[in-house]
Amino acid sequence: MIIQTKDIGIEISGKTIFSDISFVINPREMIAITGPSGSGKTTLLNCLGLIQSVNSGEIIIENQNASKWKEKEKTSFWKEKAAFIYQDYGIIEDENVSYNVTLNKRQAKTKVIDEILHTVGLGGRGQDMAAVLSGGEKQRLGVARAIYKKATIIFADEPTASLDKSNREIIINLLKACSQNGASVIIATHDERLVNVCDRSINLLEFDQLRENGKL
Ligand SMILES: Nc1ncnc2c1ncn2[C@@H]1O[C@H](COP(=O)(O)OP(=O)(O)OP(=O)(O)O)[C@@H](O)[C@H]1O
Ligand SMILES: [Mg+2]
Repeated sequence: MIIQTKDIGIEISGKTIFSDISFVINPREMIAITGPSGSGKTTLLNCLGLIQSVNSGEIIIENQNASKWKEKEKTSFWKEKAAFIYQDYGIIEDENVSYNVTLNKRQAKTKVIDEILHTVGLGGRGQDMAAVLSGGEKQRLGVARAIYKKATIIFADEPTASLDKSNREIIINLLKACSQNGASVIIATHDERLVNVCDRSINLLEFDQLRENGKL
């Protein structure tokens, strides 16, 4: 999926978090959003995922001005195209893990679900309630959901932050595989290993520096 920003900016409680940011992300691209803590990575991810509204500029998704989308269009974007790999967003705590993968009560494809759970290191956990999962397990559950729904755009916020080395490698490889299979994968991260695997990074601090130097 092609997602483009044109001069987007956001202010929260009178404070400019970022402004005049423009870029294009293409299908099959894996992009890191980098910058120091507090520079606005999560906020930018939320804006791209249409969870948070921008104050200025436009977000263009597949040639449509998504900043103008109504609830109905946003909902179908979230349902059909987008997947969010966040620790604290999108997991339905009082449902089991399998339901959280499919978001469908009629789970005919049990074998497929089991395979995907196994792939993300949650093999055999399908019947556990999502509430009992750790932060890192919830992120892996988010990856399982993205794989199951064949998301064409994946937003991940610090997906490797709370993982040990082996699970970190698993997640990095899975995200890479998602992008190689055609998804645009956008990741807010501090993890250098993950940044190195990405095709490109968008550094929020660089935008500030370019602006200060009059180059934007
Ligand atoms: N709802 C809010 N109310 C007030 N300030 C907010 C809100 N959301 C974000 N901010 C502020 O916006 C700035 C950017 O926050 P954001 O979470 O996007 O940073 P980040 O780059 O993801 O940081 P980290 O690396 O620590 O996750 C911070 O200064 C934060 O305090
Ligand atoms: Mg953040």
